[in-house]
Amino acid sequence: MFRSKITGLGFFVPENIVSNDDLSKLMETSDDWISERTGIKNRRWVNDKKLTTSLMGTYAAEKAIADAGIDKNDIDFIIFSTLSPDYYFPGSGVLLQRNLGIKEIGALDVRNQCSGFIYGLSIADQYIKSGMYKNILLVGSEIHSGGLDKSTKGRSVSVIFGDGAGAAVISSTESENGILSTHLHSEGKYAEELAVIKPATTHWIDKIKSDQTDESYWPYMNGNFVFKNAVVRFEQVIKEGLEYSNLNIDDISLLIPHQANLRISQFIQKKLKLSDSQVFNNIMKYGNTTAASIPIALTEAYQSNLIKKNDIVVLAAFGSGFTWGSAVIKW
Ligand code: UT7
Repeated sequence: MFRSKITGLGFFVPENIVSNDDLSKLMETSDDWISERTGIKNRRWVNDKKLTTSLMGTYAAEKAIADAGIDKNDIDFIIFSTLSPDYYFPGSGVLLQRNLGIKEIGALDVRNQCSGFIYGLSIADQYIKSGMYKNILLVGSEIHSGGLDKSTKGRSVSVIFGDGAGAAVISSTESENGILSTHLHSEGKYAEELAVIKPATTHWIDKIKSDQTDESYWPYMNGNFVFKNAVVRFEQVIKEGLEYSNLNIDDISLLIPHQANLRISQFIQKKLKLSDSQVFNNIMKYGNTTAASIPIALTEAYQSNLIKKNDIVVLAAFGSGFTWGSAVIKW
């Protein structure tokens, strides 16, 4: 059996920086409130109409392919994770294939929101372990800014989310090092606690036109409830991943949690008794970029030389669905 390994990383964020003070001009909020409750200082919001989710994903992918030192035609499968696709259908994976101008390989879209990158990594890992593919391109990309309620009514959601894209090349290796495990979970009974309900097949186009005040076109989040579930599930799934490989919390070189809220990361850090240098956060700069948050953070950590050969890197995510998951990697 083969093992899979992350061989290339890259990310792209739009140039336009939106600070907490900028938001306080749009809605009743403040830098104090946002900083204290979320740790976020800035986020990127697309202001160039030409920039789409698939195009940002393409820019991140080009960097990851260059970092892997392979030719784009060596990629033999695409996995695209997003909750904010360019189109209702087709998915963004085929648009990435078109943008990259590569041969007619398979392209799969993953709809698992904040856990999308971990779900995608798990799929890539299985395909590579089975010998079906050698180099898989996994992209997480989101444009949240176009779909947020930026009035005071939507402030508890809109201040959190940012736009961005991250990508990884996952390749087959004969080395002992690589992805040791992935664990995935869901609990659909809480599907509506963090969701955008419409448009949907039950609420089609005629409704959109006639129902301008309907709030179900905006993202809804039961913030406190999501927070409480997140801290429990993060801890469980991190421990589940470590136990599978007979590892302990002390073995973690670097934990990269999905950047949902700095307070969530700090809570997990405290519960697991990890030092500051064992947990990587960059939500302060980019906000919560959902499926893009882990690959952006992983790329930044890697480019800052915070990850060395043989390190145990743990990725973990929780979000809408609810879905959650972890990946344990020996670098
Ligand atoms: O990535 C997917 C997973 N998502 C998450 O993990 C997010 C989890 N949840 C959270 O991060 C937090 O629940 C939030 C940051 C979203 C909200 O923080 P909170 O401490 O749960 O605040 P809250 O919603 O309970 O609101 C507290 C108060 C309310 O005012 P009253 O009713 O106490 O007068 C809100 O109206 O803060 C008010 N508020 C705001 N004030 C200023 C809510 N949003 C804002 C805002 N600026 N942006």
